[in-house]
Amino acid sequence: MENTENFNWTYKIKEYFDKKGKIPKAFVQTYGCQGNVADSERIKGMIFDMGYLFCDDVKDADLIIFNTCAVREHAEDRVFGNLGRLKKLKIKNPDLIIAVCGCMVQRESVAKRLKNNFNYVDLIFGTFVTDDLPKLLYQAIETKKTVIDISENNLIPDENVKRIGKFDFKAFVPITYGCDNFCTYCIVPYVRGRLRSVEYQDVLSRVSNLVKNGYKEITLLGQNVNAYGKDLQKENLFSKLLEDINNIDGDFIVRFMTSHPKDLSFHDIETISKLEKVEKHLHLPVQSGSDRILKLMNRKYDSKSYLKLVDYAKSLMPQVTFSSDIIVGFPGETREDFDETLNLIKQVGYSNLYTFIYSKREKTKAAEFHDETDRETKVSRLEEILQLQKQITKKLNENLIGTNQRILIDEKRGENSFAGKTLSNVLVTVNSKEDIFSKFINVKITDANISYVSGEIIKE
Ligand code: SAH
Ligand code: SF4
Ligand code: F3S
Repeated sequence: MENTENFNWTYKIKEYFDKKGKIPKAFVQTYGCQGNVADSERIKGMIFDMGYLFCDDVKDADLIIFNTCAVREHAEDRVFGNLGRLKKLKIKNPDLIIAVCGCMVQRESVAKRLKNNFNYVDLIFGTFVTDDLPKLLYQAIETKKTVIDISENNLIPDENVKRIGKFDFKAFVPITYGCDNFCTYCIVPYVRGRLRSVEYQDVLSRVSNLVKNGYKEITLLGQNVNAYGKDLQKENLFSKLLEDINNIDGDFIVRFMTSHPKDLSFHDIETISKLEKVEKHLHLPVQSGSDRILKLMNRKYDSKSYLKLVDYAKSLMPQVTFSSDIIVGFPGETREDFDETLNLIKQVGYSNLYTFIYSKREKTKAAEFHDETDRETKVSRLEEILQLQKQITKKLNENLIGTNQRILIDEKRGENSFAGKTLSNVLVTVNSKEDIFSKFINVKITDANISYVSGEIIKE
């Protein structure tokens, strides 16, 4: 039903531009996490079907879409700033359609602010209704009035839409939408809704098709991939999914994110260790090393159980690497709490850290917590972590010198210079006169830097 409807709206938009004898161009800007990137790929697929081509400069666009993130205030400020700059384009070209979607507009206060202070925005649509884009966009074009739909539902998006991604050999595959965890600082459950797992067979057949079409890297996405299937009352479904994907014929690798320390099981770790196509890397955000703070964050694990997971993974996979998100300056974080975070970082030895200063988010529980730490202290704590992390990464990278690694080349850095990542998610640069883009290459690591290592191609 929905598909036929979409088909009709899509056709109407196509017809509208055909009549004008115009090939419209669209500019899509994505903020936030890979979940948002995956949504933008669907959005691009839909607007391509409507007849739009894509442009890299807002000045050339007939349609501008900002797919936004609400996770921190800073992310939202950037969107408001960039949106402000579009006003003069709209004055010059009243036919230009400006759309804002994603997590930020799912907040009623933001939708209101956009409506009142950014009256040149034509379309505001939330995270639950991306499938309705053809209809909403047609309404915006046709009525020339601001169209707003931030309604909620518990559906998962249509699996059968076209997607347009950056690569034709790497794909994001969402396995869950939403999140049930309600960490006290986090806005995601409010803007993305409850956990909804994509049907098992739908995930499997999408991955099979991608592999059949020559895709070499599949990244399974979810706010907590280890919770996959919990809403379907199925246990251990994530491990089973990894096994079944690993059994698909073909030369490809499987990445996944994000792992949640409260739901990642020893069984999951065993599965990951056994499967040759599955990355030996865990993005396992700890947020803080202090049990007191973890409790206040409602993370439902403590530093001891976290380190047990890490040690178990290390014992089964000597080559395993870890990355993490850390929040600095959560309300009430003392110097002692922070020192515990530094200690934990040292004990784990992360290959990569994503560090954020706590940002107060409307509706969340932590927004009511008393926060007495000043910003200067928070900034200096952040800086301390970055310095520590640099030393750790450098050492890890130095340990790789002399080893042989297989990498998938996904970056051309310059004439004869390429880069890619190992199964353990380590960034490697390599020189080659031949075009090796999108190929698996065996390299010997010769040099280590802070954020990457360099290697030489091993001749077969
Ligand atoms: N589902 C993932 C995280 C998604 S949000 C998980 O549970 O690990 C990505 C990261 O943003 C979080 O891990 C956290 O470190 C950070 N983050 C979320 N809310 C934040 C806030 N209010 N202030 C600062 N950082 C925040
Ligand atoms: Fe946010 Fe916590 Fe869910 Fe991650 S697990 S998305 S941090 S509520
Ligand atoms: Fe941001 Fe939404 Fe992702 S808030 S981090 S884009 S789920």
